Amino acid sequence: MSMEGPRAPRESELRGLYDFLNRELRPGSNWSIADEYPRALQDFNRHNMRVILEGERVLSHAVLKPFVIKTPLGPIKLAGIGSVVTEGGHRGLGLSTQVLESCLQAATSAECDIAILWTELYDFYRRLGFELAGTEVALQIDNELPSPARDLKFIDSAQIDAEALLRLYNQHSVGTHRTLEDVREYLRIPNSRVSTAWDKHGKLVAYAIEGKGADLSGYIHEWGGGVGALTALLSHMWKTRRDGARGLTLIAPRHSENLCRTLQAAGARRHDGHLGMIKILRHEAIFAKLRRAARQHGIGDLVLEKNDTEYRIGRGSQVYATQSEQDMIRLLFGPALPHEIHNFDPSTAQALQSILPIPLWIWGWDSV
Ligand SMILES: CC(C)(COP(=O)(O)OP(=O)(O)OC[C@H]1O[C@@H](n2cnc3c(N)ncnc32)[C@H](O)[C@@H]1OP(=O)(O)O)[C@@H](O)C(=O)NCCC(=O)NCCS
Repeated sequence: MSMEGPRAPRESELRGLYDFLNRELRPGSNWSIADEYPRALQDFNRHNMRVILEGERVLSHAVLKPFVIKTPLGPIKLAGIGSVVTEGGHRGLGLSTQVLESCLQAATSAECDIAILWTELYDFYRRLGFELAGTEVALQIDNELPSPARDLKFIDSAQIDAEALLRLYNQHSVGTHRTLEDVREYLRIPNSRVSTAWDKHGKLVAYAIEGKGADLSGYIHEWGGGVGALTALLSHMWKTRRDGARGLTLIAPRHSENLCRTLQAAGARRHDGHLGMIKILRHEAIFAKLRRAARQHGIGDLVLEKNDTEYRIGRGSQVYATQSEQDMIRLLFGPALPHEIHNFDPSTAQALQSILPIPLWIWGWDSV
């Protein structure tokens, strides 16, 4: 029988696709992987799924989920890619490569500036132009946190006011645009702990979410609220954590300096890592945003462009050329600092440092 695809699955093929994904990626789970990704693995996002089939049998799959991220640089459109898998007997035949290339084409057609995914198979994705980049701070809480005396009530339940949570979420400077329906769906994700803190007037002042289906157990991947209320909530979560033997780790963007400082001062251990593997899809769109940000900093002569063979970065007549896509990704999104990539002249280094790295962050609920 011949293979078909990559293409989007038909509605009638979704059940078979979820069976395939559950068998391959979630053996032993008592929920469906579709419940873990309620904004990606659902019928309304079917046009962004890609499968290769043999008859009715799914052999390979990946899904993309486009998001618009609010950042201080302006909106960035991003495609999260996930649930990448090829059936055991058909690996090494190039199926995932074809499926991923089809996803990347769809992301580019949808005008996504970058694609991002979370994986440990670095070399597999490097072949496709992805590089480990962006930044993430993990704060490992091993001891009781000082809980500032506050009149707060803690609730451990997902049955909470989604609107109140969305209001706090929207205070973050970086994050995807979410609707109330998105939040309601995310609150239903299995195997996670939703903890919230309420003040004496019944107002939500902090939230924190630990675990997400088969992933992120012991990790708080979503949180919000003021640092004082959040620290008190984390203190409550640590004291009542699900797995008595294990600690609790909060993951945060590097720009959450106040929270990182507070938790470190309270004894949390800090580990700096990458946000994920990133691929640039629309170079010129990102460069235009950066040149505009530079102009707002009074830098009118920043050169940041790509031609067929190389990137050109610099200022005025001091222009540096590179062919390294990896260097560019790590320069734009971190963690590389300009001087680690090239011995730029002081004026170019200063210009780049005023706009880079782009403060990119994806909250855990949105990861695909
Ligand atoms: C990883 C996986 C998706 C690859 O699927 P596949 O259809 O076999 O991939 P391809 O045939 O397109 O692989 C193409 C190339 O990647 C290489 N490759 C495959 N798996 C790899 C791995 N785990 N690490 C590094 N390289 C790998 C192959 O050797 C091949 O290289 P070549 O073209 O130079 O020979 C598949 O092994 C799988 O389903 N694994 C289990 C689920 C999983 O780990 N998914 C990833 C989640 S992020």
